[in-house]
Amino acid sequence: MKLSSFMLSLLLLFLVSAPLLPAGAEWAPSWTTPTEDRPALDVPYVPTPPEVVQAMLTAAHVNSRDILYDLGCGDGRIVVAAAKERKVKRAVGIDLDPERIRESNENARQAGVSERVTFHQKDLFDMDFREATVVSMYLLPSVNLKLRPRLLRELAPGTRIVSHDFDMGDWEADRIIAVGTHTVYFWVVPANMSGTWKWSLTDGNETRQY
Ligand SMILES: C[S@@+](CC[C@H](N)C(=O)[O-])C[C@H]1O[C@@H](n2cnc3c(N)ncnc32)[C@H](O)[C@@H]1O
Repeated sequence: MKLSSFMLSLLLLFLVSAPLLPAGAEWAPSWTTPTEDRPALDVPYVPTPPEVVQAMLTAAHVNSRDILYDLGCGDGRIVVAAAKERKVKRAVGIDLDPERIRESNENARQAGVSERVTFHQKDLFDMDFREATVVSMYLLPSVNLKLRPRLLRELAPGTRIVSHDFDMGDWEADRIIAVGTHTVYFWVVPANMSGTWKWSLTDGNETRQY
């Protein structure tokens, strides 16, 4: 099922208003129900338009030294563009929907980049993405927030993250770029400041250890 960005916004509005349903009434969006062909999804399939793909790759300065992961890769367009146009070392796409993985592999084959890309039919929450130097995503606000602790904890400081249309709550973006009616958010993973720290303070001739 393909949805336009406008329809995704309407769906979001509906999700927000779902709690207003009469008591006892149950409502769930169709993509959250598993079918014979695919497991339940956290996000519906809505492809990123080509000009937004370009803006995401440019915002993240994607280049030949990078390993890019697209979490929820759809038809693989970001992964394929990163490999074909930005010549990344490697690009990895993850999607729960087997149909999307088939499309991704076919698109990579047609673009002649199959050797540098890999697609996994897997839940993005079960995926190890620590080797990424760039992470891209077009998910939902709630999914971004659920992922946020792992992105901050597991990605190396300096890893770049780009998200189409959705932010990460109070983790402020380093850059926000408008592309027509779309928005690209860009973050750089900061140094991990957790743990036990020791430092010394010199005041005149006296040095104190803390
Ligand atoms: C909005 S689409 C974005 C597709 C692509 N990244 C793009 O920008 O064109 C979100 C994708 O996430 C996939 N998805 C949803 N829940 C997922 C999950 N838990 N693990 C992996 N993929 C998931 C959907 O199948 C869908 O293809």
